[in-house]
Amino acid sequence: MKERTSFGHGGDYNPEQWLDHPEIIAQDFEYFKKAHINTITVGIFSWAQLEPSEGIYQFDWLDDVFDRAEKQDINVILATPSGARPRWIAENYPEVLRVDENGQRNLFGERHNHCYTSPAYREKVQTIDNKLAERYGKRKNLVLWHVSNEFGGACYCDLCQNAFRTWLKQKYQTLENLNKAYWATFWSHTYTSWNQVVAPSPRGDQNLLGLNLDWHRFVSDQTINFYEVEAKVLREVTPNIKITTNFMGGNPDDEHVFFDLNYQDFAKHVDVVSWDSYPSWGTDAKSSVELAMNTAAMNDVMRSLKHDNYMIMESTPSQVNWHPFNRPKAPGMHRMGALQEVSHGANAINYFQLHQSRGSSEMFHGAVIGHDLRDDTRIFKEVSQVGENLNQLQPALNTKAHQPKVAIVYDYDNMWALNDVRNYAAETIKYWRTIQEHYRYFWEQDVPVEFISTTDDLTAYKLVIDPMHFMMTEEFANKLRAYVAQGGTIVGTYITGQVDERYLAYLGGWPKALRDVYGVDPLETDTLYPTQQVVVADGQKKFQAHDYATVLSVDHAIAIANYASEWYAETPAITQNQYGNGQAYYIGTRFDSDFMVAFYDTLVTQLDLKEANLIHKTDAAIHINVRLNEQKIYYFVTNFSDEEKTITVNTPMRDLLTGMVISIGTYDVAAYDTKVLVEEG
Ligand code: GLA
Ligand code: ZN
Repeated sequence: MKERTSFGHGGDYNPEQWLDHPEIIAQDFEYFKKAHINTITVGIFSWAQLEPSEGIYQFDWLDDVFDRAEKQDINVILATPSGARPRWIAENYPEVLRVDENGQRNLFGERHNHCYTSPAYREKVQTIDNKLAERYGKRKNLVLWHVSNEFGGACYCDLCQNAFRTWLKQKYQTLENLNKAYWATFWSHTYTSWNQVVAPSPRGDQNLLGLNLDWHRFVSDQTINFYEVEAKVLREVTPNIKITTNFMGGNPDDEHVFFDLNYQDFAKHVDVVSWDSYPSWGTDAKSSVELAMNTAAMNDVMRSLKHDNYMIMESTPSQVNWHPFNRPKAPGMHRMGALQEVSHGANAINYFQLHQSRGSSEMFHGAVIGHDLRDDTRIFKEVSQVGENLNQLQPALNTKAHQPKVAIVYDYDNMWALNDVRNYAAETIKYWRTIQEHYRYFWEQDVPVEFISTTDDLTAYKLVIDPMHFMMTEEFANKLRAYVAQGGTIVGTYITGQVDERYLAYLGGWPKALRDVYGVDPLETDTLYPTQQVVVADGQKKFQAHDYATVLSVDHAIAIANYASEWYAETPAITQNQYGNGQAYYIGTRFDSDFMVAFYDTLVTQLDLKEANLIHKTDAAIHINVRLNEQKIYYFVTNFSDEEKTITVNTPMRDLLTGMVISIGTYDVAAYDTKVLVEEG
């Protein structure tokens, strides 16, 4: 990718739907100028137009798109077309069609549902990718490869089952190891040959928890492997063009939005992280503050994957067509959401879609240009304003998000394992929601957070929060212990350290490293009904908790609060342990937010995690995020509520978006407004 000179603004464009309407394509490009569109993403789902029958190519229409874009200085992100396939491939090579978990092969249809293992599909994809790279690799406005589209799902065909067996053989070497890992003696499920191993299925096994987890891991690896097949061709032909694929963020308010593929692994294979962001800003809630927090978390997740800036590859200018209620964004919300993403490190705001498709399932999904073909709609104007704002933000282009001192660990194996637990309660397990609850405090206080994997370096952070780490390797337990020994602070919770990476229970109590560092041994965990509460008292105050309560035996920690109800009343609910130069806190139960605020307030003060801010707010609906470089700090101040709020500015500042210089004093921030303030001078 060439050095960026401005924030990206554009998105998915499918002119192949309009080839018999050249006047519409011409008008689209005129409109792009008006909306400050500087990037188009083309080629997604265009395979049937690029290769209408096997080996017969037609690129003239795409040449024309590149020419038009070049004339008006628009960058092109070129997608490989593998996310949807032409009918002839399925006809000529039925193996490309995905097989479902019951073993039934799909008919041709839909998208994103090919077999990732099929040699025929891989070969056909490589051939078309190679043609695209050869033809467009030298175009000076080609800035990025967009491989396929929103990878996801699994195939259960014989080719995939075989690949799964090969993957398992590599991992376990012997059947004996596999049998031990899966505890296969249970229910007489011992494997006596590798051919007996099949993926989990409703018609077969779904209760070998180790197998379920390995299948998840395999599907993730095999998808990345398929991506690599595509990336290999692109790297060979166009070594200077960076490569991404669009990760899914769904509606960041949902609990299970990005669970299927291990993006922490996947991110190592892309040059830049990009993702598709569809917060339901037009929601049924009175306030969008909760959603703003969840969307902030998702942006931080995506930034944290490479600890670097990222791109919004898709977002809607108004409504989508797949939320339970597809409400358009109210005036101002689109700009608010876009600037929020920039404030977290997004360097591009792209849309799905630039021009609304005239028919088929997404015909009424939000778009920059709608069926009215007008450039004076509310949506068009709001998009243009975002484009204008992004131009005004040009001085902040090469800034990075503030380096967080707080990290929250999340782990895919753990997520998959927790989603499959047969004890506790499926309804309340809520791993991601729990992480959001910890994140909430820091978001409200404008303290930046990094989301880290178990392989990240912990020593870069002053505080590491590791909630519900049910499946934890001994290696990571040792890492936590070493981190605390050298001076770090950790916060762990109930349902931690129960099983190893094979999904086998730890024997003989908690792993030694966890016992050392936390100074406790969790004995049992009460799973409460959603209507039940447990009370915790810390001497002066009482707090309510719910869902889970772990009963502890204390080795050498100090109890800082005890349970005050249930049969475990008077026993420790929260403990603190000094280990080496650091501290380890264990929170035994799931608290409401009043406790979290009290708890983290103390820690944040002790660890000095709050930066002295030049801007003060009086309301949690205002969020202040910082992007900075060596010279300047840019304060993104957003009001996520539907009411005007105020901030106090302690030094003269300039608002990049209005050019106004503001002196020390109190200022109104209108509902959904964002100010980008930088110190004057
Ligand atoms: C996804 C897909 C797009 C489109 C949008 C609709 O993100 O990648 O092709 O279907 O959803 O919101
Ligand atoms: Zn398959």
